[in-house]
Amino acid sequence: MRRAVQIAYLAAGRNQPNPYVGAVLVCKNSIIGEGFHHLYGQAHAEVNAIANVKAKNRHLIAESCLYVTLEPCFHFGKTPPCVDLVLKHQIKRVVIGCEDIFPQVAGQSIAKLRAAGVEVRLGVLEAEIKWLTRHFFSNVRLQRPYIILKWAMSKDGFFSKKGEKIQISNPLSQRLLHRWRGQEQAILVGKNTAEIDNPRLDGRFYADKNPLRLLIDENLSLLGKNLHLFDNQLATWVICKPEKAKSWENLDNLRYVGVEFGANFIPNLLAYLYQNNIKSLIVEGGANVLTQFLSLNLWDEARVFVGCDCLREGIAAPSIAPHLLVESFNLDHNQVQLFVNQ
Ligand SMILES: NC(=O)c1ccc[n+]([C@@H]2O[C@H](COP(=O)([O-])OP(=O)(O)OC[C@H]3O[C@@H](n4cnc5c(N)ncnc54)[C@H](OP(=O)(O)O)[C@@H]3O)[C@@H](O)[C@H]2O)c1
Repeated sequence: MRRAVQIAYLAAGRNQPNPYVGAVLVCKNSIIGEGFHHLYGQAHAEVNAIANVKAKNRHLIAESCLYVTLEPCFHFGKTPPCVDLVLKHQIKRVVIGCEDIFPQVAGQSIAKLRAAGVEVRLGVLEAEIKWLTRHFFSNVRLQRPYIILKWAMSKDGFFSKKGEKIQISNPLSQRLLHRWRGQEQAILVGKNTAEIDNPRLDGRFYADKNPLRLLIDENLSLLGKNLHLFDNQLATWVICKPEKAKSWENLDNLRYVGVEFGANFIPNLLAYLYQNNIKSLIVEGGANVLTQFLSLNLWDEARVFVGCDCLREGIAAPSIAPHLLVESFNLDHNQVQLFVNQ
């Protein structure tokens, strides 16, 4: 099962909005096939694990034990049900890391396998696999994108100097951030960050995949400014009032997206993203936007870079209850703090 978890992560940033899933076929203590779910709409982990078995070993499939991180699917989605594939190959033992909470599965495959006489063991490495599958489970439970808040702050807790761009992260933390960017579907920033920092919001220092860039600009007041976000190079949505969105023509990569502003703006935006299949989001600031997500308790993880210098004044960084800190480590002179919203 550890191997199944390990290979499942190889899909990071590639198969969303589907979950990361790994599967391993073991016969007489040897792995004869393994696979993971690579890309949205393509073969699931179980299909790839079975296809991976060499011709000379195919007669061993029925004698093997299938280890799979998530309960096999029960329904026809973009591919046929994996539970039927397991039965077709007459696999007699299946070890499942975690039951799938997706309503169209939700234990039905486990029941079908058991009813057919397959020995099923459930709940192996369950905590690790719930973490592996956290984006998907959060989507199903909360019907909104998985939300990661990210910021950098000085050693004395400042986010930036008012109206200025300050570099807190170092080259190593930037590479880590760009890796994270490549693993999620979209990045959101507020209007002031776009104007003051002029970020590219891409993954150029690490990832080969760039997320969708999202900018909040209710009245399109930044239009016409020479900002990287308007370079039409990467997919970018400018979130504005519906009547403003209607008055501008979309370019190849630049779209004007109308969302109702006002007190419910953040929930409205999340609903729009979710309906448009954007199921994971990094919120990269500024403090104003991050604080809105924190005060609505609309976040799953926060990833914070703490610099080694003091700013002494400026915009105070958002704060998170210390008991939600799950990990911290150093990257050169930055400390990285990881929080999980329990
Ligand atoms: N340390 C870090 O990690 C980090 C990261 C990003 C940015 N920064 C720094 O942070 C500063 C900018 O942060 P900030 O807090 O001033 O601004 P911000 O969060 O980037 O943008 C806030 C602005 O976005 C618009 N906006 C946000 N939510 C809205 C809503 N619900 N409805 C309507 N409009 C909304 C508003 O523009 P209007 O008021 O014009 O309507 C608001 O003033 C910069 O100095 C930047 O360098 C630091």
